[in-house]
Amino acid sequence: MAVLITGIGELTTNDPELGKLRGAALVLDGETVAWAGPAAQAPDADERVDVEGRAVLPGWVDSHTHLVFAGDRTAEFEARMAGQAYAAGGIAVTVDATRAASDEQLAANLRRHVEEAAAQGTTCLETKTGYGLTVADEARSARIAGAVADEVTFLGAHLVPPGADAESYVDLVCGEMLDAVAPHVRWADVFCETGAFDEAQSARVLKAAAERGLGLRVHGNQLGEGPGVRLAVELDAASVDHCTYLSDADVEALASSNTVATVLPACDLSTRQSLAPARRLLDAGATVALASNANPGSSYTTSMAFCVTTAVLQMRMTIDEAVWSATAGGARALRRDDVGYLRPGARADVHVLDAPSTTHLAYRPGVPLTHAVWRKGAKLR
Ligand code: NIG
Repeated sequence: MAVLITGIGELTTNDPELGKLRGAALVLDGETVAWAGPAAQAPDADERVDVEGRAVLPGWVDSHTHLVFAGDRTAEFEARMAGQAYAAGGIAVTVDATRAASDEQLAANLRRHVEEAAAQGTTCLETKTGYGLTVADEARSARIAGAVADEVTFLGAHLVPPGADAESYVDLVCGEMLDAVAPHVRWADVFCETGAFDEAQSARVLKAAAERGLGLRVHGNQLGEGPGVRLAVELDAASVDHCTYLSDADVEALASSNTVATVLPACDLSTRQSLAPARRLLDAGATVALASNANPGSSYTTSMAFCVTTAVLQMRMTIDEAVWSATAGGARALRRDDVGYLRPGARADVHVLDAPSTTHLAYRPGVPLTHAVWRKGAKLR
């Protein structure tokens, strides 16, 4: 059934030829966008929805979350707000709670957060394993994620489980664990950071995953400068995420690569780090994505709008750059072009704001602006 969305005050297509249109219309046919253009030229459809001058943009593409988890880290957050530093070790608290949870509890918690994100306009979401850290727990995390999320990443190399020998654990990740998760995931990731995995260990994990045909992603340069960005670029990872502390060489390497720099402003704020240098990356010519990093430790929000607002108000991105980075940029970080765009052939993932333009995302910080959402052509709200 074809649906004509008309009365669009401002249509962000992210398509270089269509650009941003005023007085526009959009036709969804089943799960796909069939037509986008000036309202006066819109074709007929079975159903007509008038959005009365509101802004319409592609649904958010959240390319970085950790939502297969159980438990709570409020106490850690409170300690951080009282001055304690964030450290990789907090992950172990969530690992214990996740291992103790049933499949049903993990699936329900994941679904609850994915629905929370969708209600705010997120229509394509990546999530990761990484709170299991045994073969069985990583495999079930991957299976549960695969039933709910658009994209699933294996992050067995999130933390060396307390008490385990790091090299033996990397052997397990690259062997039996990778074999167990591979049928359920498209991506592999590693937390390349002091307190997690060093450069050699990270390279072993990424190369083993690439040999299994998985795409690569890296958590890098979150807590300080380090080898993460360089390694990601060398191995042609789709994305290196965090990028909070970058050397000039890191910025140059990203600018001349196909690796997207995914910045996670909610995490930077929630861990009281500096905000990632998105302006510096953009000025150098790097591709920047914005993602929520929703997880119970370092960034417990599913709000992509909050990330966009912060990117504009505090990271000196323009509105158009921030909106692109949270939609088409996220898609680029997942090496997809079917989401993050509103043009013929794209997935019918539509976000209608209760505002006349995307500028209001930064102009009205903190105000919930999601008016309606379609995902794969189905109206969610
Ligand atoms: O991306 N950096 C590593 N992993 C997550 C944090 C996970 C946690 O603290 O539970 C992140 O910030």
